[in-house]
Amino acid sequence: MLKGLSESAIDLNFAIESLKEEIIAVNDYNQRAEIVSDPELKEILMHHRNEEMEHTAMLIEWIRRNNGTFGKEIQEYLFIKEGIVSKEEENIHEEKISSISLNIGSLK
Ligand SMILES: [Fe+2]
Repeated sequence: MLKGLSESAIDLNFAIESLKEEIIAVNDYNQRAEIVSDPELKEILMHHRNEEMEHTAMLIEWIRRNNGTFGKEIQEYLFIKEGIVSKEEENIHEEKISSISLNIGSLK
């Protein structure tokens, strides 16, 4: 599956595969912690869930630093004050205006 891929594509693949595993682990631990009856086991599972969240965040940061498009999108959407969907609509609107400007520019 990885044959023929560039080093950066291979690294990104492993980061994404690891991210998938970490986020699934977060979900699994979270669900288990919700339904177990023993309070100490619940506490352990919640601790594990939180550790997996840390691992998830570390991988997201690596991906942000090492993939330009992910980096751009993360820069665009993380920690924004406005609504997420309205931010995307704003971006689409800006892209249309930019596209119209480019078309007008080409007529000159
Ligand atoms: Fe982990």
